[in-house]
Amino acid sequence: METSMYIIPGPASQVLAGGVARALQCSLADTEFFRFPDGEQYLRVPDIDDHVVIIQSTPADSDYIALLQLIDACDTAGRVDVVIPYFGYARQDRRFKSGESVSARALARAITADRVFTINVHNSGVLQYFDGAATDLDAAPVIGAHLAAMKTKTDELDNPVIIAPDKGAVDLVRSVAEYLGADFDYIEKTRHSGDTVTIKTKKLDVSGKDAVILDDIISTGGTIVKTSDLLRENGANRVFVACIHPVLARNAATRIFSAGIEGIMATDTLDRSVSGISVAQLIADAL
Ligand code: R5P
Repeated sequence: METSMYIIPGPASQVLAGGVARALQCSLADTEFFRFPDGEQYLRVPDIDDHVVIIQSTPADSDYIALLQLIDACDTAGRVDVVIPYFGYARQDRRFKSGESVSARALARAITADRVFTINVHNSGVLQYFDGAATDLDAAPVIGAHLAAMKTKTDELDNPVIIAPDKGAVDLVRSVAEYLGADFDYIEKTRHSGDTVTIKTKKLDVSGKDAVILDDIISTGGTIVKTSDLLRENGANRVFVACIHPVLARNAATRIFSAGIEGIMATDTLDRSVSGISVAQLIADAL
């Protein structure tokens, strides 16, 4: 095991960074950050000339700025790896209308590191734009293991079927369903705006089963609520929600629970109260 590796936690990923340092039994740097009165961010890392691993998700613009500051602050390190567990703007992965910025590409191009790791990034095509070898880690087995543990107790999860709320989530859902030995299905979704989606009505074989809606990201919760309504119409027993990245913008959690969902399960790529499934070991293994 390499002992000279330092984990550098960014402000958005302190808990996860602590978990990775623990898994690797390596040092966790004491990163200092605060805001100046005008709102600008200050960031300082200890002097380290060994191998550093910066861990910082970028759900907000200020988190992305902190990531750039972290990379700059580590310019004396012998080697810099960057882990971006949740890479914000990844959904703007192409030009949907002429003249648009391909935001994911723009932001990836500004990241310079020896190695970059993302986790279930929305479109892995973005990896080519990082300046450094980039790898997308797959948290599907981590989610699968969590659901498998629940399935051992029928009061927690009984006769599950895993549902992709759009075609983009099918690979993730198939992988988790195979891990569990469960059936899966998908729904066709059309997005009209950032917070409006419609889904195509479909007959689903979920009657009397516990349905788990699994998506990469939950943002406003609109996708989950519509999918949950369809599952109930088709006679699902209980409806659970799982995701990799619990963005949970605005009142998403309230909307989801108001729709009668049993619970939200998510990984800790984002530090939220529902982030009970850790990807720390997944990152540690990759490093
Ligand atoms: C989009 O393609 C993503 O995979 C998610 O389905 C989307 O981010 C969910 O957004 P919302 O929670 O706002 O419906």
